[in-house]
Amino acid sequence: MSSTPKIHTDADAARLPMTLPRLADKKRQGEAIVMVTAYDFPSGEIVDAAGVDVVLVGDSAAEVVLGYPSTVAVSVEEMLMLTAATRRGVRGALLIADLPFGSYEESDELAIRTAQRFVKEAGADGVKLEGGGEAQLARIRAIVGAGVSVVGHVGLTPQTAVALGGRRAQGRTAQRALEVATQALAVAAAGAFAIVFEAIPAAVAAEITPLLEIPVIGIGAGAGTDGQVLVLHDLLGIYPGRAPRPAKQYIELRTPIVAAVSHYAEEVRGGGFPTSEHTFSIDPAELAEFLAGLEKLR
Ligand code: KIV
Repeated sequence: MSSTPKIHTDADAARLPMTLPRLADKKRQGEAIVMVTAYDFPSGEIVDAAGVDVVLVGDSAAEVVLGYPSTVAVSVEEMLMLTAATRRGVRGALLIADLPFGSYEESDELAIRTAQRFVKEAGADGVKLEGGGEAQLARIRAIVGAGVSVVGHVGLTPQTAVALGGRRAQGRTAQRALEVATQALAVAAAGAFAIVFEAIPAAVAAEITPLLEIPVIGIGAGAGTDGQVLVLHDLLGIYPGRAPRPAKQYIELRTPIVAAVSHYAEEVRGGGFPTSEHTFSIDPAELAEFLAGLEKLR
């Protein structure tokens, strides 16, 4: 692999970087907003080259990258490392990082300190945090007040899924749907510049979305939101088995990747790799001198 990867094309350079006002404008113009997750340099570069509007370094990294059983285990240090790597690949899209569970809930001070680390140390353009209760609203106000842009997240909030009765759709009764609506409006009023709706009925999301001035990005929330977000590994079909219900698998990459690595293993074991095409030569005179020198070392 080359030590200095060539990343961005002229077409990429010509693209205006996504900003908060441009994102808000997209909602006003009725243009769909595209968000996708990425977790490292190559995935950041790839999704940016695809022209998405927002790249989310989601705490789904806990599961799809780090192999934890849920999102709650991921640490601030791990998320900072993944966000900084993704930043190196993302130029045009807005880069948002998820605040991990336990890194912001306790106090406004902690929330500000953690959010600012993502901006200062990892180069994030903003952070996302889950929930619309009183404590989370206070944290959003504090973080925004400290100069860091915030994306909210309501409906199914995986960090607190146990309290929600598991990873299941939210807002499926009139009362719960009103709670989601109330939380979404409060998150916007607290200063979030966008909000994720996860796993809520399409009809509910479609009614709440126009009530909000800020863009609503849905996952499992139907087509009536202002945009969509998918976990990259679901979209690419990296894992065995079916993608979760809200996700759409656009390609199945696991099979060809396993086949390519198996092919490599087979060639190494059978002597088919490397060939002269993949090796370096040395001038015969230099080689002779080297061999003479090596003799003396024996
Ligand atoms: O962590 C994540 O990837 C997310 C998206 C699913 C919105 O929060």
